[in-house]
Amino acid sequence: MARLIKTEKEVEGRYSEQWVVVEEDALEQWPEGPLRTVGRPATRVDGLARARGEARYTQDIQLPGMLHAAVLRSPHARARVKQIDLTPASELAGVRGAVGPGELDVLTDEPNYEGEAVAAVVADTADHARAALEEISIEWEVLEPLLDVDQALARESFLSDPKLYERGDIERGFAEADVVVEAEYRTQSVLHNALETHQTICEWEGETVNVYTSTQWLWGVRDEVAAAFDLPKDKVRVICRFMGGGFGAKGSAGDYTMIAAELARRTGRPVHCRLDRREENVNSGNRNPTIQKLRLGARSDGILTALSADYVCLLGWDGWLPPTAGPVQMLYACDNVRTVEYGVRLNSPPMDAFRAPGFVEGTFGLECALDELAAKLDLDPLELRRRNHADHDPLDERPFSGKQLMECYRRAEPHWERRHEVHARADGPWKHGVGIATQLWYGGGGPPSYAWVRLAGDGTATVLTAMQDIGTGTRTAMAQIAAEELGLPVERVTVELGDTAHGPYAVVSGGSSTTPSMGPAVRAAAGDVARQIREIAAQRFDVEERVLSLAEGKVINADGGSWLLEEITGLLEDGQILGKGARGPNPAGMRVMTYGIQVAEVAVDVETGEVVVERIYAVHDIGRVINPLGAESQIEGGIIQAIGHSLSEQRLLDPRSGKVLTRTLDAYKLPTIADVPEIVSELVDVPDAHLTNLGSKGLGEPPIVPTAAAIANAIRDATGADVRSLPITREEMLGALHEADERRRVPERVGAAPA
Ligand code: MOS
Repeated sequence: MARLIKTEKEVEGRYSEQWVVVEEDALEQWPEGPLRTVGRPATRVDGLARARGEARYTQDIQLPGMLHAAVLRSPHARARVKQIDLTPASELAGVRGAVGPGELDVLTDEPNYEGEAVAAVVADTADHARAALEEISIEWEVLEPLLDVDQALARESFLSDPKLYERGDIERGFAEADVVVEAEYRTQSVLHNALETHQTICEWEGETVNVYTSTQWLWGVRDEVAAAFDLPKDKVRVICRFMGGGFGAKGSAGDYTMIAAELARRTGRPVHCRLDRREENVNSGNRNPTIQKLRLGARSDGILTALSADYVCLLGWDGWLPPTAGPVQMLYACDNVRTVEYGVRLNSPPMDAFRAPGFVEGTFGLECALDELAAKLDLDPLELRRRNHADHDPLDERPFSGKQLMECYRRAEPHWERRHEVHARADGPWKHGVGIATQLWYGGGGPPSYAWVRLAGDGTATVLTAMQDIGTGTRTAMAQIAAEELGLPVERVTVELGDTAHGPYAVVSGGSSTTPSMGPAVRAAAGDVARQIREIAAQRFDVEERVLSLAEGKVINADGGSWLLEEITGLLEDGQILGKGARGPNPAGMRVMTYGIQVAEVAVDVETGEVVVERIYAVHDIGRVINPLGAESQIEGGIIQAIGHSLSEQRLLDPRSGKVLTRTLDAYKLPTIADVPEIVSELVDVPDAHLTNLGSKGLGEPPIVPTAAAIANAIRDATGADVRSLPITREEMLGALHEADERRRVPERVGAAPA
């Protein structure tokens, strides 16, 4: 019987209540450790298709008669359109239509940041469309943008109310402290720069609109387009079979989707609206900069007595306040905590979620300050972290559903011990050091998510679900889960995804939630099929169902006999065995989190300020690992992306005009393969006993969280300099070295006195 219950659901730290229907016969978790397929490395089921260029991304889709749109975006950070005339553009050869302010919600005549959409034209080719933009007659009144953070704070220009969190008594906590550390940290704005730029093709078929889009969430786009065009939800079909990365910036439909849909409706032709790389660097979301004021108090034995943090988050014109204070609130056991987060509204492009939003920024400040504290206490940084381990959730004393952080610390120990030999590498101006930083993040996923599995007469299985694979290897993980449950080799399982018309509802691929949300549904659906096979085989061969199991493409009798699966499915000829599965609830009254620690080894040239990351060791706890090879890729990708924001990436805004200066990949320095260090990764791989039929959490985000702090701490270990601002450019590095020299000369002025 189906039971209706309420469960807690979380995406990136935002919790909500969710009604969920639970089927009665929930599967027990598999035993710990590698199974036949799950837990063993699997190469990507779509790897060859991607490598050969056969995988069709939104960018590759050519529909008959397809037109191309280009968007007129505000060149000013704040301005008013005094007069606009689209006619000269519309009259150009090859131009099929134009749309301006007042005609579509995403177009404005009062832009509040550079790049905000004002008008769009559609033409036979993308070049025609872009050329036509030049012909739009427009007269601007340029207004003074609000760009200065102090001014914004004074004016209380906030996107939402400042968020205060308190537990215990912060004053008493500092009074009890033997040592206090106080410091300011800064993180910069970072751009996602997915390989595939934001883009959508829309095509109307009668009352239905087909939306081909590069998205992290098919169903979210469906809902947004349906609302914007006043359509029943199922009249919007969203398709994304292959996706070239999102990193958080492709969680919603975006102006380009609405523009494509409207221009397709007007012209009766399919319309492609695609951001070019320059638009991508201005107008597709960003990780918001932060200014963090931290104050930490500890007893002489290292036990934290007080954590206080003020965060100013420069969100831009729109967006939301990410959980920047999360690490300070949740990473360590500390009775007295106070945090304030300000979400400042400026005339700069809106922030968007970016791989572990808030926690990347907050972990940098906290984990650097913790090492400054360790230095003052003369305590081993790893030991300091152990002593402050949270055995239950510091927010509300809940038990953790599963937590292997101490095991991560244990495994990291030999890598941390390498510092003695690493120091000895010092050579001339090059100093070497090792640093650590701990990670916590969400990643438990939640309902609703559904899957269907169909087993054909030839004994091959197809998983159907309208989820997306954003490049993380979800297809492969789902194939492994179904294969395991059905006792089939992975090659006999196909995963069909990426189309809201072909399969049931699925979760957003954000918040590291895809595998922990969808995996259990896929397993349940495969389990439903497996149960039916056993029932059918029992009848056919006149044995008891309970003596039958599925493995290696066979139905196996407990007495040792077996039948090929096809002997049973083949009876049905073209008939199919159909299974369905749903993601169950999250464990009641428990906190579901992911953990890890990274150890960075760096070399610093103290004369030039050059920093080279030589090695990163990463160990993460995400419960059961489905595909160790895919997981390793996620760790490597996260660390490489983190090396970008640690050392080189930075969106620069002109402080007077508010225009983005880093518009190309010449100016905006992504890491290249030459910047990639040796990466050694490990996963604890112990199933979370309380979480779903898999015990798996997500890994998309955890690996990017601690890297910057580990690098900064390694730099301190190498040089004694405190780098407190990202990215750690040569200028930043030389400044920190200079400051450290000054401190050595006037040692009594170090840090703040205890309160
Ligand atoms: Mo996100 S930053 O896609 O969870």
